[in-house]
Amino acid sequence: MVKIGASILSADFSNLKEELKKAEEAGVDFFHVDMMDGHFVPNISMGIGIAKHVKKLTSLPVEVHLMVENVDLFINEFKDMDYISFHIEAVRFPFRIINKIKEIGAKPIVALNPATPLDAIEYILDEVHGVLVMTVEPGFAGQKFIPIMAKKIRKLKSMIVEGGHEVEIYVDGGINTKTAPIAVKAGADNIIAASAIFGKGNINEAVKALRESIEKKYLDDEINRII
Ligand code: DX5
Ligand code: ZN
Repeated sequence: MVKIGASILSADFSNLKEELKKAEEAGVDFFHVDMMDGHFVPNISMGIGIAKHVKKLTSLPVEVHLMVENVDLFINEFKDMDYISFHIEAVRFPFRIINKIKEIGAKPIVALNPATPLDAIEYILDEVHGVLVMTVEPGFAGQKFIPIMAKKIRKLKSMIVEGGHEVEIYVDGGINTKTAPIAVKAGADNIIAASAIFGKGNINEAVKALRESIEKKYLDDEINRII
């Protein structure tokens, strides 16, 4: 079954405990915590302490998405996290980073900006737990899914299947009830959403709608046309 990750970037931070609880009750599968440094992306989101709070407040897995320039500097701060996503564009020695993430007991996920070709990760596919495909330019919630990314996801899926790799595909950015089925049909195993979950007013309804949209994926002619 496709897993839904709730990105807390659009959550009400003054009420984080409640927001997490509601998302958990609505049936999300994990939490996604966006860390931005103002260098790799033109935004600063939240500090390391927030990720630690999230981990304490939930029994669900927590995935930290590092949109930072100096990945190496921060890995040790995330010892308690289940998954650590780092950007291939930010690291010079990905095998080193992957090993460091494994050493602290987390699972590595390699993330790619929309325009980064899949070739960049061809030789690390056996080393990572997942590949996170950004379907918007990283930095902000509430942006529009870039349609050509459906082709990228599909190509990645073929690469994984043909190579016999055991890697999960994560899709992050602009995911809503229209784009989630596109991502899933293209090959996503996990979809991540911020504004479509926390920006709607009713978290329970929003997660339900997202889940339903995925289940209907094979019925939609429009999706077949896009992919
Ligand atoms: C963007 C972040 C995403 C973001 C998604 O830089 O990596 O995780 O929170 O936000 P939505 O779902 O609103 O596009
Ligand atoms: Zn993210």
